[in-house]
Amino acid sequence: MVSVRELSPADIKAAVKLHLAVLDMEFLSRFGPSFMRAYYRAWTTTPGSMSFVAVDDTGRVIGVLLGATDPATHVRAMVRDHGVALARSIAVAAAVRPRLARDLVVTRAGRYARGVARLILARFRRTAVAPPAGSPRVGEVTHVLVDPAAQGGGVGRRLIDAAIATARAASDDELVLVTPPDLAARHFYEALGWRSDGEMTSRSGEAFLRFRYPLR
Ligand SMILES: CC(C)(COP(=O)(O)OP(=O)(O)OC[C@H]1O[C@@H](n2cnc3c(N)ncnc32)[C@H](O)[C@@H]1OP(=O)(O)O)[C@@H](O)C(=O)NCCC(=O)NCCS
Repeated sequence: MVSVRELSPADIKAAVKLHLAVLDMEFLSRFGPSFMRAYYRAWTTTPGSMSFVAVDDTGRVIGVLLGATDPATHVRAMVRDHGVALARSIAVAAAVRPRLARDLVVTRAGRYARGVARLILARFRRTAVAPPAGSPRVGEVTHVLVDPAAQGGGVGRRLIDAAIATARAASDDELVLVTPPDLAARHFYEALGWRSDGEMTSRSGEAFLRFRYPLR
């Protein structure tokens, strides 16, 4: 029997181990377990986020989903409350991995620095910048992964169902996600009724397929 529940602090070690094993090709994974544990801790304690684990009948973590019902609030809180700890963890990892340090500078350093500067400036504004009235509330699924031994058994579907239910409860109008074009995951999202929404290139230069799931 598989059950899906919110990810608790006690799950972080196992969830990170699974994340690093299943999504070893992700840029984030290159920063290693110590950074990833800090990232998960930050993620799960930040407003606007959602995080779930699937566990088997022995309590073993066999699947993870991270996302956000309110990505803007979530990212602001991640940077404000955890930015320094995460940056320190990134610097430590980059210091011992020269290739990672080079890739970080080439693809992301400028953008990260500009983002942090924007957020610091925003703290001095009297009021938060609200989205234009009537604009749709868009949540996102950021990571979903299932233990290879458990794949194909409906665990991924259960995790996505939990994200959809949570986003609906938070009054989101739709959920979005991106996935690399070379991953079989695109067929998973199609099977679950997500609509293909074209391609995009991230600001770091990587190609992605976009998917959306209307909630209303
Ligand atoms: C993608 C992933 C999360 C799917 O989880 P899963 O537990 O294997 O998927 P499920 O068993 O719940 O499958 C749900 C549906 O998707 C379909 N599906 C899943 N993977 C598929 C694939 N590779 N090709 C075609 N269909 C697929 C299933 O057939 C099923 O459809 P059905 O209910 O109509 O039979 C999992 O395979 C995984 O972790 N992959 C590696 C990591 C990854 O790529 N993550 C996504 C990064 S964006």
